[in-house]
Amino acid sequence: MITIIYNIGKLYTFNHQVVPVKKAELNKCEIIENAYLVIEDDLIKAYDSGDYAKYLEKDSQLHDAEGLIVIPGLIDAHTHLVFGGSREHEYALKLAGADYLDILKAGGGILNTVTATRKASFDELYFKSLKFIDNMLLHGVTSLEAKSGYGLNLETEVKQLKVVELLNENHPCDIISTFMPAHAIPEEYKEHPQDYIDIVIDTMLPEVARLKLAKYCDIFCEDAVFNREQAKRILSRAQELGYIVKIHADEVVSMGGANLAAEIHALSAEHLMATNDEDMDLMSQANVIANLLPATSFNLGKTYARARTMIDKGIAVSICSDFNPGSCPNENLQLTLQIASRGYGMSPIEVYNSAIVNGSCSIQQNDYVGSISLGKKADLVIMDALNLEYTIYHFGSNHVKDVFKNGELVVFNKELCY
Ligand code: NIG
Ligand code: FE
Repeated sequence: MITIIYNIGKLYTFNHQVVPVKKAELNKCEIIENAYLVIEDDLIKAYDSGDYAKYLEKDSQLHDAEGLIVIPGLIDAHTHLVFGGSREHEYALKLAGADYLDILKAGGGILNTVTATRKASFDELYFKSLKFIDNMLLHGVTSLEAKSGYGLNLETEVKQLKVVELLNENHPCDIISTFMPAHAIPEEYKEHPQDYIDIVIDTMLPEVARLKLAKYCDIFCEDAVFNREQAKRILSRAQELGYIVKIHADEVVSMGGANLAAEIHALSAEHLMATNDEDMDLMSQANVIANLLPATSFNLGKTYARARTMIDKGIAVSICSDFNPGSCPNENLQLTLQIASRGYGMSPIEVYNSAIVNGSCSIQQNDYVGSISLGKKADLVIMDALNLEYTIYHFGSNHVKDVFKNGELVVFNKELCY
């Protein structure tokens, strides 16, 4: 089956010789004017400027891009998609000056969501997450990562991971699952956290590996959560079991999380708002991807990660939403990119390269998605804009018009049609 998208004003391919994209290359993108793109089944078969007549077959479908721009599907390499409850009551506390970690220490924050997630049925979690992921898709996201971490016991963590597994089967978006049993110390282990760490190491990590519910493992290395030594124990065991590891590092206080990410060759380190220059150098040498979460800085009223310094040091930066019920309840990755551009001083091309190309590397999907290249999945977004810069400049609106996922039209004129 052939589908031809024609009348593309500008086709942004995001093709690069070497990925992830670093330094000056981050500000580059091939643009083909007056272009067409040929989809065969679920893959990209051809693209160029000019005449597409030679690809027409008897039953080919034609899709008019109306002179607008086309980019690869957006990738959100860091979300906490599945959770029970919601925490709008904390917003007032934060406005009144309460600190994110103080709320957690008082049994709120992540622990509040843990209680709600334990109570929620599988179906409740499934349909709640489905709404969020539909909204992500409407905003142009075609692949994403989803972390567990709101169960903090085997039963509920497995429930979350199975919700992701079923969503991945049923929803057009590709979802990569990450197991995050060490997201907080559960209330019942407050007085003896070591016991919980032992359960994570001896029972939870092996069981989730056996069930093949996640290939990745993440941890929250932070003041009053897990320290460097505990994080190292847990992640080293995860690596022995075959997980590829990620670390929420240096979000509020530097506990050596970025340093540990470099030492154990984590695939990525997340947040990095408080990372010092030495640890950035180590991350660069160890090729750890920096998953930066600007909308979290914005929403917590915190400092922005030093993205420009990281880029100058040769770190591959990826920009992700961090969608979660506490620090960042926002599914709109375009808004995240707009905040990134302003907050980090990154150009529109830099933020899109970070999300699309480096995002695909951060979930190890770059052989299949993350650029418009021959043989890659036909994951494409038609944006209601004449150039990419406009979509960052004109902030707060959804610029997505149509979305193709695996060659199928799944959003048409801003509405789901899958
Ligand atoms: O990445 N910082 C740790 N975890 C999430 C927030 C989770 C929550 O507040 O529910 C994050 O921001
Ligand atoms: Fe996170």
